[in-house]
Amino acid sequence: MDALALKKLVAQAALQYVQPNTILGVGTGSTVDCFIDALGQAGIPLKGAVSSSVRSEKKLRDIGVPIVDMNDVDRLSVYVDGADEIDPANCLTKGGGGALTREKIVADISDKFVCIADESKLVPHLGKFPLPVEVLPMARNEIARKLTALGGSVKLREGFVTDNGNQILDVSGLVITDPVALEQTINQWPGVLTNGLFALRRADVVLVATADGIKTR
Ligand code: 5RP
Repeated sequence: MDALALKKLVAQAALQYVQPNTILGVGTGSTVDCFIDALGQAGIPLKGAVSSSVRSEKKLRDIGVPIVDMNDVDRLSVYVDGADEIDPANCLTKGGGGALTREKIVADISDKFVCIADESKLVPHLGKFPLPVEVLPMARNEIARKLTALGGSVKLREGFVTDNGNQILDVSGLVITDPVALEQTINQWPGVLTNGLFALRRADVVLVATADGIKTR
C-alpha cells in the first residue's frame, strides 16, 4: 500500500471518534487533509470545528463545516491530528507543517487527542525528525544559540511564516531522552511560542495505518 492509501485508511478509521452534532478539533497536514475529505464524504453532521490552521479551515469550509473561534468554546471532546514522529509512550513530534502552536493550544482544550498516522511515523525515540520551534522573529538568533548549546543543529525554515506571523527553527541532532523535560526547557525561553514536542499533552489514542490494517494504541 502506498503512503497516500495508508493516510486514507487511517483517516477513515478516525471517523469512529467523531461525535455527531458537536464541535470537533481538527489539526493540520496531509493526513488531516485525508481526514477532512473522509469527513465530507461521510456526511457526519457537526456544529462546527476549531481548526489549527488557515489551511484546514479552508478545507473544512469547503465541505460545509463552520469554523468556530476557540474563544467561543470551553472544551472540545475530540481533537484529530497527525504527527511527524510517535514514540512508544504516545509522545509526539509535530510541526512539520508549521502549525505546532495552534495545534498545541487546541490539543490542550481537548478531552481526547486522536493522533492519526501511517506506520512510518513510529519511532523508538523522538529526535530523528528535526524538532520545529516557533519563534518571534526578533528572538530568532538568541533561540538558535540556546538550541545549539543543547547540542542541536539549527536551520531557519526559509521563506516560511506561520499563521501567527512568526518563524520556525528546525533543530536536528538533539538527543531526546526526556521529552517532557525538553519540552518544558525550550518553552520557557522568552521568544519561543512553542516547540513541536507534544509530551506534556501527548496523544490519548494513536491510530496507525499499516499494510495489515489499523493498529490502535
Ligand atoms: C503540522 C503537523 C502535522 O500533523 C505533521 O507534520 C504531520 O503531517 P502529515 O500528515 O502531512 O505527515 O504537525 O504542523
